[in-house]
Amino acid sequence: MDADDMGADLKEVLISEDRLRQRVGELAARIDADYAGRDPLLVGVLKGAIMVMADLARAMHLPAQMDWMAVSSYGSGTQSSGVVRILKDLDTDISGRDVLVVEDIIDSGLTLSWLVGNLQSRGPASVRVCAMLRKPGAARMRDVEVAYTGFDIGDEFVIGYGLDYAERYRNLPFIGTLAPHVYGGNRTEAGKR
Ligand code: IMP
Ligand code: MG
Repeated sequence: MDADDMGADLKEVLISEDRLRQRVGELAARIDADYAGRDPLLVGVLKGAIMVMADLARAMHLPAQMDWMAVSSYGSGTQSSGVVRILKDLDTDISGRDVLVVEDIIDSGLTLSWLVGNLQSRGPASVRVCAMLRKPGAARMRDVEVAYTGFDIGDEFVIGYGLDYAERYRNLPFIGTLAPHVYGGNRTEAGKR
């Protein structure tokens, strides 16, 4: 899927495919250096992190293992509440492991801080976070530090590169914004994972 396929539904391309690829390469190089001699476990958060996980893992030189979690956060409207339910847990025992959580986007950070706390309770050697995108609200998140960030963006709703609006547009190769007519002012659907 590309910009032409979206027609009038696309407002603008915010981060091009080239910039994403370049940035993922930079993050992978830093992760390779930071985890040299170790055996990191990449934990992707479904479904949004599929693209960044696939690209990041392939850009790394370390033989990273991958596992996945799916969580759902109860919230009202677009605000996530921080009350989280695990829909799919890890297959891997992470005790003693160096865990790197791979996320698509951090908005309020509530989901992520719950997730990091949950992983930390399983006795890993370390837990760090890599997020492709970070919205301004994430700055208020005091308890979780994001070790690797792709891009800091504004508060606008974005789609593509794994991110959806009502399960659509995940297969766009770039990050874009939606034209208002697609939205219809309903950000509840938009806020769904
Ligand atoms: P948080 O708990 O508020 O940080 O929620 C983060 C989650 O909300 C992300 O993992 C996404 O699944 C979803 N989300 C937040 N902002 C956007 C967006 O702009 N586009 C698509 N999904 C988003
Ligand atoms: Mg997510």
